[in-house]
Amino acid sequence: MSSEMMKYTPEEAQPHTKGPRTGKHYIPPVHIDDIPSFSFKELLEMSRFNPIERMDIHVDERYGTKFMYIGNLLENPLDLRNLMTKFPAERKQDSALEAGDLNNGKSFSGSKAPGMQQPIERQLMPAFGNELFFLAKRLNFLKFKREAVTWKYFTNCFYPKMKSFNRNYLPHMDPFSYAANVFLTESEDSGTTFFRVHCPIDDKWYYNMNEFMSPSATKSGARRWYVDSIKERYGYNEKGDPEQPIVQPIEVGVEDWVYYQGDDFYDGYLHLPARFNTMSFYRGSRWHSATFDAASAKTTRYSLVGVIE
Ligand SMILES: [Fe+2]
Repeated sequence: MSSEMMKYTPEEAQPHTKGPRTGKHYIPPVHIDDIPSFSFKELLEMSRFNPIERMDIHVDERYGTKFMYIGNLLENPLDLRNLMTKFPAERKQDSALEAGDLNNGKSFSGSKAPGMQQPIERQLMPAFGNELFFLAKRLNFLKFKREAVTWKYFTNCFYPKMKSFNRNYLPHMDPFSYAANVFLTESEDSGTTFFRVHCPIDDKWYYNMNEFMSPSATKSGARRWYVDSIKERYGYNEKGDPEQPIVQPIEVGVEDWVYYQGDDFYDGYLHLPARFNTMSFYRGSRWHSATFDAASAKTTRYSLVGVIE
């Protein structure tokens, strides 16, 4: 119905009038049953962790990359998944195509992450962040105090035949400090892979871009070598003083997704598999990426992500 046909003018209150005052226009009612709803107890139950003795716990580090990898995390993972699937997601792949002229090619949500994300409202996750915080504390993984930690939640949906956007299968660093991924599907050949780069200029291993941007790497020429290498290999852009180059994003838009497990530049040294009801929890400040075979995957990889900003 067009907005021209409807006139919304203030009226005198008519407390005894029956029915909606919409003239001849039919306004379909909302059915309360159409709104997914859960009680407080149900919300608590679906975030409940297993007792620690029943989890399969790995707290470890590789080359200074600390991580927690926990199997058999949740008591009711399918109930949590049921809640998560009720949230909408932006179809970013379509947005990317539409947005050429709409929003400069950016997705509505601004996310650079692969696949689709559902923003999850924190109010509906009353227990999850607490469970996670106290588990991480108990395992000496987090140093933060309770009041310093605010969780932000979303899901990652990586689906068969999904595309890449600006080559977002390549290693990246997160814009937040810690990320916990709880996998709610079984994806055998998928996971999070961590990478490092060997620089021949100074014969050192680098674990994130900040190390290449440091004064010593700038002086030795390692920074120049890194920026030249990723421009040449992956199509990154550059700005700033050539003596102190700054890496700018790739701008190639939508392409086929690549099942990326590293190459002769980025050396994968740690892989945390995306198995059902496992959680990987790590600092996002070191190069990592989502390893997912979109070309041959038959099912969606679905995870709840909790991040500490
Ligand atoms: Fe990440």
